[in-house]
Amino acid sequence: MNTLPSQINQRFAQDVEEGLSLQLKKLPSKYFYDKKGDELFVKIMHCEEYYPTDCELEILKEQSTQIIQACELPKDRINVIELGAGDGLKTRELLKALVQQRIETRYMPVDISANAVEGLVSKLKREIPQVETSGQVGDYFEILNEVNARSERAKLILFLGSTIGNMMDEVAHGFVRAIAENMKENDRLLIGFDLKKEPDIVRAAYNDKEGYTRAFNMNLLERINHELGGNFDLNKFKHYPVYNPQTGTAKSYLISLCDQEVYIEALQKTFSFEAWESIHTEISQKYSKSGIEAIAKASGLQIEQTFLDQRAYFADVLFKKLST
Ligand code: AVJ
Repeated sequence: MNTLPSQINQRFAQDVEEGLSLQLKKLPSKYFYDKKGDELFVKIMHCEEYYPTDCELEILKEQSTQIIQACELPKDRINVIELGAGDGLKTRELLKALVQQRIETRYMPVDISANAVEGLVSKLKREIPQVETSGQVGDYFEILNEVNARSERAKLILFLGSTIGNMMDEVAHGFVRAIAENMKENDRLLIGFDLKKEPDIVRAAYNDKEGYTRAFNMNLLERINHELGGNFDLNKFKHYPVYNPQTGTAKSYLISLCDQEVYIEALQKTFSFEAWESIHTEISQKYSKSGIEAIAKASGLQIEQTFLDQRAYFADVLFKKLST
């Protein structure tokens, strides 16, 4: 029996209660990323089957100079604002290129996790001291707004790593539109999109042989056990990823292997699962050219240039405001 922690994350409790009460059960993928989830995601990024990280790193290693040129930024001083910075490994390549081109750069990684930001900032201050790095913890749009008010510098906004793929289409459109509303004429936005490709390659990326992705998905249930006093038996659920080549949507499920009941102490509630009932846990959208164009159109942006890796598995797309 798990004992409840003294502090309960009420938002998490509420989201779990809502998601597991639906006819078609689901849990939000943002809860993957606790300490253990962060560690598992690092393992996923390094495993053989998970190609997106390598592809984007290749793009930024090989093409940062071209990306910066295409930005047509007022050359002397810029702000680079990264939404959801993660470990910043890829961004480092772009920052190094900015330093090489003697562009005075202020780098602001933004994340909701103070922990993630602190680690990144202290690492970057050591490795690229020429760049003035200051972490920002909080809501993306509040911070973009604040930066607009505080600084006249042109902005390069980064939203890398195919994080956008975790959003359903309408959410992604709304998100990019909100970024666009915080952009001025000289500002640029670089978004990383995972592209449609050979379906078996996509499927393998969400079902690696080492079982890291499985553990990552299962960690959601473990987290409910630890943080909300749940009694999920992990042996009674199966990790099941699928890919629909028509829509380009990869989805992950946890499937109940038998009729079972799960009690969650923090909610004082029992949830029933029928055999083979699923919990939908994540979407990872794969984009086509027209899908990316639709995002631009819905947001009042235009595509300035698209940067692909050698295999054309992944695209970093540079957007600017539609000139009126
Ligand atoms: C961090 C959202 C880009 O969807 O590919 C990796 C997360 N999930 N393996 C993705 C993830 C399962 C990843 N993103």
